[in-house]
Amino acid sequence: MKILLTGAGGQIGHDLIGALVADGHEVVSTDLAPRPPSHAHAGGDWQRLDVTDAAGVQHLFTEVRPDLVFHLAAILSARGEQDPRLAYDVNQTGTWNVLEACRRAKVGRVIFTSSIAVFGPPPSGPLPDPTPDDVALHPTTMYGVTKVSGELLCAYYRSRYGIDCRGVRFPGLISAAMPGGGSSDYALFMYVDAVRKGSYEAFARADTRIPLMYMPDGVRALLELAFAKREKLTRTMYNIASFSPRADEIAASVRRVIPDAKFTYAPDPVRQGILDSWPKALDDAAARADWNWKPRFDLDAMTDDLIPRVRRMLDLGAILSH
Ligand SMILES: NC(=O)c1ccc[n+]([C@@H]2O[C@H](COP(=O)([O-])OP(=O)(O)OC[C@H]3O[C@@H](n4cnc5c(N)ncnc54)[C@H](O)[C@@H]3O)[C@@H](O)[C@H]2O)c1
Repeated sequence: MKILLTGAGGQIGHDLIGALVADGHEVVSTDLAPRPPSHAHAGGDWQRLDVTDAAGVQHLFTEVRPDLVFHLAAILSARGEQDPRLAYDVNQTGTWNVLEACRRAKVGRVIFTSSIAVFGPPPSGPLPDPTPDDVALHPTTMYGVTKVSGELLCAYYRSRYGIDCRGVRFPGLISAAMPGGGSSDYALFMYVDAVRKGSYEAFARADTRIPLMYMPDGVRALLELAFAKREKLTRTMYNIASFSPRADEIAASVRRVIPDAKFTYAPDPVRQGILDSWPKALDDAAARADWNWKPRFDLDAMTDDLIPRVRRMLDLGAILSH
């Protein structure tokens, strides 16, 4: 199958490209940036594409005529609060441009990567715990606002033009890659800084609890949803869940492997505010029922797999910077 990715240079693209190439697909990866050295191993073609450039998106999609598009390009939550206009342009206008190009280039299927940032505290009280798929959406960030809109645009293009647009609401994703400015980055830095410095001061409180997921499960979820039979799907967007540890439970999990690691907590008001507005855990019953979604990694299994990978990533970074 011919598959095009937008925003392929990021954390998800890093693992998704390799998985698609390994499965024998013809992969065209696109990003605003050139192929990063960390993505060199992944294979496939690489093209520069700015999703805010409607004509450029249209031109490339018509030229490539992919069967399937993974639309990953976005400005994530924390960075989006520093520059809401940029987040609006990339996430909102960019998604519109991608869907329009899919319509004109007759792309059959589009995978949208939504987020727990679509949720926010309803005026009536806290979010249900766990939070189901269908609750009123009250995002507090520009990132969340654009993801809600992206979900609605997907549903619109699906019903109006028959484009098979579907997606997942990802928890915070953790992998051995430098994160891209998300509010869940504290979780990954607990691993990265424990390995490289032996300590980490988290920008979140010790009792912060949000849904997290290990990247191999995240990539598998994208692949399973992308290749699920259309008639099995009862929804356009699906909550998917793995585990929801408190920050100090992540610390304890890291200390099983690096006993001397020290963790302190100095909450940053903006990012803590974003984290507190998100669900503590997700109810993913529909994904489990419709396409047999099931995570494989719990927190300690992730820790055991991740720490050696973080060590390799940091060693490789040191080699590349010399
Ligand atoms: N990583 C997570 O924890 C997480 C959680 C929920 C949802 N998601 C979603 O998954 C998708 C991929 O996330 P990621 O973690 O790989 O993000 P990332 O920040 O690591 O990568 C995003 C990529 O988008 C590219 N990009 C930015 N502006 C662009 C533009 N104008 N045109 C084209 N490309 C542009 C960046 O260069 C970057 O390579 C995003 O849509 C994100 O919202 C991620």
